[in-house]
Formats: sequence, C-alpha cells, structure tokens
Amino acid sequence: MQTKWTAERIKGLKGTGKITCLTAYDYTTAKLIDAAGIHLALVGDSLANTMLGHPTTLAVTMEQMLHHTAAVSRGITNALVVADMPFMSYQVSTEKALENAGRFLKEAGAGAVKIEGGAFRAQTVAALVANGIPVLGHIGLTPQSIRQTGYKVRGRKTCEAESLVLDAKALEAAGVFGIVIECVPAALSKDITKAVRIPTIGIGAGPDCDGQILVTHDLLGLSGHATPKFVKRYAELGDLMVQAFKEYKAEVESGSFPSGEYGY
Ligand code: KIV
Repeated sequence: MQTKWTAERIKGLKGTGKITCLTAYDYTTAKLIDAAGIHLALVGDSLANTMLGHPTTLAVTMEQMLHHTAAVSRGITNALVVADMPFMSYQVSTEKALENAGRFLKEAGAGAVKIEGGAFRAQTVAALVANGIPVLGHIGLTPQSIRQTGYKVRGRKTCEAESLVLDAKALEAAGVFGIVIECVPAALSKDITKAVRIPTIGIGAGPDCDGQILVTHDLLGLSGHATPKFVKRYAELGDLMVQAFKEYKAEVESGSFPSGEYGY
C-alpha cells in the first residue's frame, strides 16, 4: 500500500473524502503532524509571523524558507511537503520563479510549491508544471498583496465572486494540483469547488471545500494574539507552556529542582 502523499495522489482525493492540511515550520512539529496522518504539510510563509515575529509575510526570504522547508522535510515520512514561495521569489519573472521553485525541490525536499494569485499567475504556474514542479494555487485573501488589499473577506461583491471562479478555472487549466481558497464566503467556495475538477483547500472558506488548512500555531493556541473567526483552537498549548516554564522557574529558584533523581 502506498503511504507517501504526492501532489498527484492528493489531486485524486477530490470527491473521495476530505483532505487535511496544516502548516509546519520545524522538524519536531512536522513529525507530530505526520504521526497524526495529515495529508499535506505546508511550510507557509506565515512562518514570517509565527516563527520570526514579523507583522506580515512580506519579509521572509528564500533562504529562510529553504531552511525551514528542509527541517520539515526531515520530519515527514508520509505527508506531502509544500513550500510556500515567498514574496518576490516568483513575481519578477518566469525564469526567477523556475529557479527558486526548483531550489525547494532540489535543496529542501519539498514535493510541491504554493504561489499566490489567480488568472494573472497562470503563465507562471504553467511554466513550473511543464518543468516538473507541482503547484498549489492560492486565491481569495492573498497575504502577499495586503499592502494593496488589506486583510478582508474576498468575493462578497458579485463581480469579485465571478472573477474568483474564473481565477480558479484558469489555475486549473494551467495545471495546479489544488487551490487554497482563503477568506471567502462559504457559498462562493462551494461554487468554486463545484466549478473545478481539482481539490479546493479552504481556510476561512466554509465547510464545502474538498479540504481544510489552518495555521498550526493558531489551532494549538500558540499564536499569542486573537485568532481570526475561522480558527478553532483545539488546544491551549501556549497556556500550558507558560505554566510549565513558571513551575520550572519556581523549582529552580527554590532549589527543589534538580533533586537527586535528576543527577549523576
Ligand atoms: O502561509 C500560510 O500559512 C498560508 C496558509 C494560510 C494557507 O498560506
């Protein structure tokens, strides 16, 4: 039985059951995500926020993304590792996009890359796919464009909704194996999901996408800020960690740690 998830196998999951995806940025978390049987681990450029403390995703570099993607790849046995291409690593030219996407597969063990943008990005997608690089699309709220658009739900107006459906179709025609749909009304992502033969992966896009993705730090209660409406917090690990750190501090200060059992 095949256990390794490839882009092609993930694509084949449409209509057969839900696709589960989470972000991963480091070796340890990647191992745990893989142990839980998650299909796809995205090394999101959200690592700019969660791991590096930047206010937006714009600052993260190719070298930082490669470093974290390689760590995640070392922790994963079965899930598909998808590397998020950082801001300005694929926008400048097709040549630059090919060169940078290739580095994620060659140097960091990724099985695919993700790039943001709709129909206007189809040419870049087609070039990557033609050269053997599986691509996950990303439409709706695209955080690399926030300086232009801000953070808000997309597709509420009819014209915007229609153009998102066209974007999804254009990306499908260009060869993406799936599309992330971020922050769009549930009814629209249902329409998009019906309009394409490739899987849609929703985040803040309702229950009718073919799969779901969340930022792992949000789901675990590690983000340290108010989480968006679409996030369900499955654990409060941030609180547990502070509690553990406080107990450690108190025991070190009182001299009760390390007691004899922890010594040689
Ligand atoms: O960078 C990221 O975490 C993402 C997900 C929100 C889809 O792009």
